Amino acid sequence: MELPEQITALGAQVEAGGAITPDPELFETYEVFAAELTNLFVKPWLAADHTSRLSADGDYFRVDIGGRSVVIAREAEDKVHAMRNACLHAGYRVCEEEEGRSDHLFCRYHGWDYAIDGRLTDPELRPEEKDRSRFRLPRYAMRMWKGLIFIDPSVAAPNAPEAQPIDAGDFPDLADAAVVSRKRYQTTWNWKPLRHLLWASDELALPGGSETQTEFGPLSRLVTRNGEAALVRLIPRYAGHSDFELVRIARPGHTAAADDDRRIEEVLRAEGEKLEGAPAGNLDRAFYEWYWAALKPAVAAV
Ligand code: FES
Repeated sequence: MELPEQITALGAQVEAGGAITPDPELFETYEVFAAELTNLFVKPWLAADHTSRLSADGDYFRVDIGGRSVVIAREAEDKVHAMRNACLHAGYRVCEEEEGRSDHLFCRYHGWDYAIDGRLTDPELRPEEKDRSRFRLPRYAMRMWKGLIFIDPSVAAPNAPEAQPIDAGDFPDLADAAVVSRKRYQTTWNWKPLRHLLWASDELALPGGSETQTEFGPLSRLVTRNGEAALVRLIPRYAGHSDFELVRIARPGHTAAADDDRRIEEVLRAEGEKLEGAPAGNLDRAFYEWYWAALKPAVAAV
């Protein structure tokens, strides 16, 4: 996919080494957002949640990335599947809810039914077909590691691609920890200034600040301090609408800091007002260098 000229123009400024003045459309247009969705948001890995979100067989939850949607479901303790949340019939979502517990997934559009591992269960559908692999929701590579659920949203196939190692810095094992709170925040911002704010303000996610900071792909980040952790997952929805989910986690014997929901809302409101006249916000050269480096290989591959 050829990158829109707002991105290539930014890349030229980054490589020229001088001042960077991004085109305001970099934060507003569908074309830029579509290119980011295809070339950037799907890069591995995404830390989707803590493993306790799948504590029983049949537990499932939905992860959205722009217009793409993934449903992560536990068939059994050693069988967890990350599947494309799109019906094989006409692409409608098979999981509309944020989360649930069931032995099947159901498409409401025309009623196709799937087992919790993504197999289409209608026995009447093409019984003459011996290869049933295409009667299954495509899967993504995934891993459960150190108490977190990771997915690689870059490739989906009838059989899950082999999971590659997760290239991330060290962080405490959270397998025996518990989720203290899980909250979703909504903004009418482009994802870039929201990411910049969240990645630069650890005390927003974890009152008191962090001791370790670990980035997983472009959209998720874990910060920890003395038995506490906060997982931030950025959820770009449209060019001008981005949410984030904040999962607060505490290891046994540690108590989480008091809920400061109001403080986060106040920061978001104040930053949102600043962005109204200046969509690039406080983005700096370091951000743009990261952004261009993440998108540039896609240019070379064209
Ligand atoms: S789109 Fe799912 S049954 Fe038609």
